[in-house]
Amino acid sequence: MLTIIDVQTLRAQLMEWRRQEARIALVPTMGNLHAGHMSLIEQARSRAPRVVVSIFVNPMQFDRVEDLATYPRTLEEDCRKLRELDTDIVFTPAAKAVYPHDMKNITRVEVPGLSSILEGTSRPGHFTGVATVVAKLLNITQPNIAMFGEKDYQQLLIIRRMVADLNLPVDIVGLPTVREPNGLAMSSRNRQLTAEERTQASGLYAVLKCISDRIRGGERAYIDLEQQARCDLIGQGFRPDYFSVRRASDLASPAVCDQNLVVVAAAWLGRVRLIDNIRLH
Ligand code: PAJ
Repeated sequence: MLTIIDVQTLRAQLMEWRRQEARIALVPTMGNLHAGHMSLIEQARSRAPRVVVSIFVNPMQFDRVEDLATYPRTLEEDCRKLRELDTDIVFTPAAKAVYPHDMKNITRVEVPGLSSILEGTSRPGHFTGVATVVAKLLNITQPNIAMFGEKDYQQLLIIRRMVADLNLPVDIVGLPTVREPNGLAMSSRNRQLTAEERTQASGLYAVLKCISDRIRGGERAYIDLEQQARCDLIGQGFRPDYFSVRRASDLASPAVCDQNLVVVAAAWLGRVRLIDNIRLH
């Protein structure tokens, strides 16, 4: 596995592989790798002979300074896991390599509409940071395919939309959420939960599942279901940010006839903000 920190060296290596007509898969991450990231990398491995994993804690997408400062960084351990998965390149640039100019004044990628609802309401500017860094990573790497998790469902939709709007020549692959045995969606932020909170945190998935099952069973009073879910979460010690039934294609409020839905939720447990979702086809 090659560890590369600068754009020029990465480009030179990838050009060589492209000359050999090797397909290239990119898996963008912020590190602190867990089984969810691993599943994306395994899928990348099965779909392309060359796999690049980026590890970059992107300052532009953090809306809270404290969140950026406390984001877990475990590069050595991550590299050990990546070697085991037969990764070809780990790209770990410093912030200066990605943002050589003052971050406030750089060219940015906005996906309006989709970026200002749900997560966007709670985290202003977050998705501009995500879209900008993902556009940059796609331009730097120019992969054939790039893998993203459905765990961050709104992020996945925004990236798909950006790629379509900007005609970027890459296939975006969305992959299912990997969960702990108790249902809790794997996340780098779970590390910041106490042992007790980790057990409690599975309640978010349990409530999502309960509401999804009721919709599958034919219930359509979404506003009542959302209200009940929020009460259940509060009863279990969460501070819900949102709990909402949306159309899966664009996260708009669904009409009664819409079948392709997603139930999305974000809630605080202690100092940790958890997000999760369930798709309903
Ligand atoms: P990060 O949180 O490290 O996640 C990297 C990728 O792993 C994302 O596509 C995310 O959706 C996926 N992922 C996270 N938890 C998962 C789980 N439990 N199951 C399946 N996939 C999971 O998301 C980001 O980083 C950043 O916003 C990034 C896209 C790298 C841009 O900076």
